[in-house]
Amino acid sequence: MTKSEELFQRAVKRIPGGVNSPVRAYGSVTEAPRFIQGAVGCKIFDVDGNEYIDYIDSWGPMILGHNNEQIKDAVIRASENGLSFGCATEVEVEMAEFICDKIPHVDMIRMVNSGTEAVMSALRVARGYTGKNKIIKFAGCYHGHTDAMLVSAGSGVMTSGVPDSAGVPKGCTQDTMLAVYNDLNSVEKLFIESDSQVAAVIVEPVGANMGVVPPADGFLQGLRDLCDKYHALLIFDEVITGFRLSFSGAAGFYGITPDLVTYGKIIGAGMPVGAYGGRKEIMEMVAPAGPVYQAGTLSGNPIAMAAGLTQLKILWEDQDIYKRLYQKGELLYEGIRKIFLEKGVDYQVNSVSSLGCIFFTENKVTDYTSAKTSDTAEFSKYFRYMLNNGIHIAPSQFEAMFLSDAHTEAEIQETLDCIEKYF
Ligand SMILES: Cc1ncc(COP(=O)(O)O)c(C=O)c1O
Repeated sequence: MTKSEELFQRAVKRIPGGVNSPVRAYGSVTEAPRFIQGAVGCKIFDVDGNEYIDYIDSWGPMILGHNNEQIKDAVIRASENGLSFGCATEVEVEMAEFICDKIPHVDMIRMVNSGTEAVMSALRVARGYTGKNKIIKFAGCYHGHTDAMLVSAGSGVMTSGVPDSAGVPKGCTQDTMLAVYNDLNSVEKLFIESDSQVAAVIVEPVGANMGVVPPADGFLQGLRDLCDKYHALLIFDEVITGFRLSFSGAAGFYGITPDLVTYGKIIGAGMPVGAYGGRKEIMEMVAPAGPVYQAGTLSGNPIAMAAGLTQLKILWEDQDIYKRLYQKGELLYEGIRKIFLEKGVDYQVNSVSSLGCIFFTENKVTDYTSAKTSDTAEFSKYFRYMLNNGIHIAPSQFEAMFLSDAHTEAEIQETLDCIEKYF
């Protein structure tokens, strides 16, 4: 038995499912999860001494690669003053100023502790600001595990979603309506049916939790226009895309201005952080400036701020990084497309810059319904092959591959060689 298997056996006795977040359990790929000892650059090492090229990148934040020296030093320096005070600190002001100075659509920002919290809070602010209750979200987009977002489509005649998890009361999802990604008609239909009661549309500007699904030409602009027409706020959930597609995230990459934006792990460089921000008059609704209550003992934690701010400064000062990430994405995902073409494999490769995935289906994937045509048993087989050959990808068909600046051509080529042998 490997040490990972041994740890998993111990873990399942004391932690539900043996893990602290479901996808880590490797449930859909019938393997015991690998327990991680450490990581550096684009390499990750498990407790049994195996080394992998890592395409999970802690689910996105390791844009510079793992264990970046400058970030590590910032954390060590900050920790010398103490770990948490529950009081205001200078670094929080620096973080807020840094982001607001550089992101045109963020005048004010509030730090929280996770992407889930950021979304939950942004929805509350949108409702407080507009005085309306309904939220439109898209099937297949994930916005964390807040009750209102754990929703699946009701029957055709129902506009409100139904709970998608035990423990979520119907009342929590009755104001959440589900639209189809890349289908503006489905969005306008909900606006009309809801009788102008929509507070906000929340969207992953690049779908990255149903596999990678890019926005079709005009989709994000169409959402902007519909929100303006019906006086609703447009919320970009940039937990995955923020500071990754460009410094100003998908908003900057596609040139669309949201009213509110949510961030997550990336602004903590992997520390537990989230944030939401936007226009001044909206953000001034938040307590104690305004009537929308939202709080957090550990919010703006000085160690997390030190880590996150250091990463953001590096990204800002070296914006060529976004060109490099794009080129690395081209190398990897175009490389896979070429292999498929040569071998007559009819599967889909969806990508946007450093984010991408293979869908094991012959259908073009543009939304959740088409994503679900993927053969997940086939994915499982592929995942196990990759893992056993030293390539660490997410253990689910419906997750993205994340490239970092630390992936070099050599590792990308090694990955392509591995993929070529499989197909
Ligand atoms: C787009 C998006 N929003 C929100 C979340 C929730 O973030 P967290 O897991 O930090 O609560 C995630 C998590 O991956 C995400 O991908």
